[in-house]
Amino acid sequence: MKIGIIVGTRPEIIKMAPVIRECKKRGIAYFIIHSNQHYSQEMDSIFFKELKLPAPDYNLGVGSGLHSNQTGNILIEMEPILLQEKPDVVLVQGDTNTVLAGALAASKLDIKVGHIEAGLRSYDRTMPEETNRILTDHMSEYLFAVGPNQHAILAKEGIDSDKIFTVGNTVSDSLFQHLDISASTSTILSDLGVASGEFFLVTAHRASNVDIPANLLELLALFDKLHAKYSQTIVWPIHPRTQAKLKEFAIELPSYLKLIPPIGYLDFIQLQKHAQLILTDSGGIQEEACLLGVPCITLRENTERPESIEVGANVLVGRDADKALVAADRWLASDAANCNWANPFGDGHVAETILDIITNSVPNSIDKEII
Ligand code: UD1
Ligand code: UDP
Repeated sequence: MKIGIIVGTRPEIIKMAPVIRECKKRGIAYFIIHSNQHYSQEMDSIFFKELKLPAPDYNLGVGSGLHSNQTGNILIEMEPILLQEKPDVVLVQGDTNTVLAGALAASKLDIKVGHIEAGLRSYDRTMPEETNRILTDHMSEYLFAVGPNQHAILAKEGIDSDKIFTVGNTVSDSLFQHLDISASTSTILSDLGVASGEFFLVTAHRASNVDIPANLLELLALFDKLHAKYSQTIVWPIHPRTQAKLKEFAIELPSYLKLIPPIGYLDFIQLQKHAQLILTDSGGIQEEACLLGVPCITLRENTERPESIEVGANVLVGRDADKALVAADRWLASDAANCNWANPFGDGHVAETILDIITNSVPNSIDKEII
């Protein structure tokens, strides 16, 4: 058996890392295709290095671009590689343009697609990721759903239940595998001069929040109100999309916002763990905050991860400062705040389960190279 593993962006590298490690551990033949949708050192190679991942076998070098251009280029570059490698299964993770293109390229060649993080739905078709998720799910033979909600969503869309496997999210594997090492190696708190529990952590990169000047300004006004009330430093490892937009719109930032370039995963885990509050529009960070027991205010009107809201770890506020203050008050202004919620995202052994399912179902799954 041979597995093709496709990655393209920061979260895909982080969440696919446990699957790559597990393939290696089991001696399963695999190869990695990296689209290079993300390519800056701090969005890409830092993760391969920190997570000790093998270098990709193929770098497609597609870089940034308009959606169709980027998706189309990945498709074109991917096809000859899949034709040559002839994998039994191609694995994609998440909802990026790389995921859609990877799944489509494989599907056109009649190669089975495994979608990790299947069945997430925001029901917001203005998000490019929503289209990517839906199309990828409907092209997949193995739908690795995070929980029962996702299983139900997929079944309701007419996907055969035999193809849906409820396994959890590999975000839990990655986080649990790196918590200790990040605690012992990261010096990010002292580097930034912030103390545990005495700062807020922000990330924002959704097009709906940062590409429109009025929306970006609204977000900044929300941070202003929070700072006016709590006087906390706000640490903001800034996504390159957002950095580019701040520059383009010539927006100046107040000094309580501690802007830093995107940082590595080990440092970022520590920042999350020690933040008093996390404000984000990221998907993965909503999950990680929940797993780490840190309250999360999500800067979106909807989420495809409602489980973190259901367990009491997350609140949706969009860009509404008043709603953000109510949420912050709930967690911070009361000694009774309970951050000991249930974990809906997996037990840290999700990659193992995924590979068990694939190896048990692909005929001749014993690796010929190994025999
Ligand atoms: C992409 C994904 C999004 C995911 C996010 C993770 C899609 C549609 N979007 O959004 O789902 O949540 O990655 O971070 O697939 N840039 C750099 N260096 C890089 C990468 C990007 O400078 O390495 C800048 C470029 O100006 C680029 C912009 O960021 O135009 C946006 O990059 P892009 O990959 O198109 O979208 P993301 O916002 O990163
Ligand atoms: N992350 C990181 N450094 C940063 C910001 C985020 O390592 O400076 C990690 C974070 O821990 C999570 C992932 O990147 O695992 C989330 O990526 P992002 O928010 O870009 O994408 P999304 O999850 O929204 O698709």
